[in-house]
Amino acid sequence: MAVLEIKKFPADVLKQKALPVEQIDKDIQKLIDNMIDTMYDAPGIGLAAPQVGVSKRVIVVDINSLEEDSEPVVLINPEITDTDGLIESEEGCLSVPECVAKVKRAEKVVVKGLDRDGKDVRIEADGLFARALQHEIDHLNGVIILDRISQLKRELYRKKISKKMARVQR
Ligand code: NI
Repeated sequence: MAVLEIKKFPADVLKQKALPVEQIDKDIQKLIDNMIDTMYDAPGIGLAAPQVGVSKRVIVVDINSLEEDSEPVVLINPEITDTDGLIESEEGCLSVPECVAKVKRAEKVVVKGLDRDGKDVRIEADGLFARALQHEIDHLNGVIILDRISQLKRELYRKKISKKMARVQR
């Protein structure tokens, strides 16, 4: 298992729609294991494959990642099949450093997908878990939190990042 490099905005892979996983083989399982390692190392509460440069529909989530005996949730080809309510809350993203944004999302979701072994999974989630699932599934569709905030805030963030990059290059 290995910790992978996390791709940061404005990396192209973060804007692409990820492809469905056709076959769950050793390579996909290795990717999943590495994504879990990378999430815990960051540390974060979720990670999507595009964030490690792989444009495939795989996510891992663990909202209790700071606790010792927590278990990661792995979903391959996840789909939101039902939503309920709407709630705004602050969110961050490992691929969008130094950005905390208020994002409106469904309060509850039902998500279907496959687990690490290809078995059908159906998850009913609310609270932070529901939010994390929606955030990671967004990544599979090329959507990041900057796409979910106002244009003004997005521009401010872009300026902040480009100034920072200019400083690094100097
Ligand atoms: Ni993210």
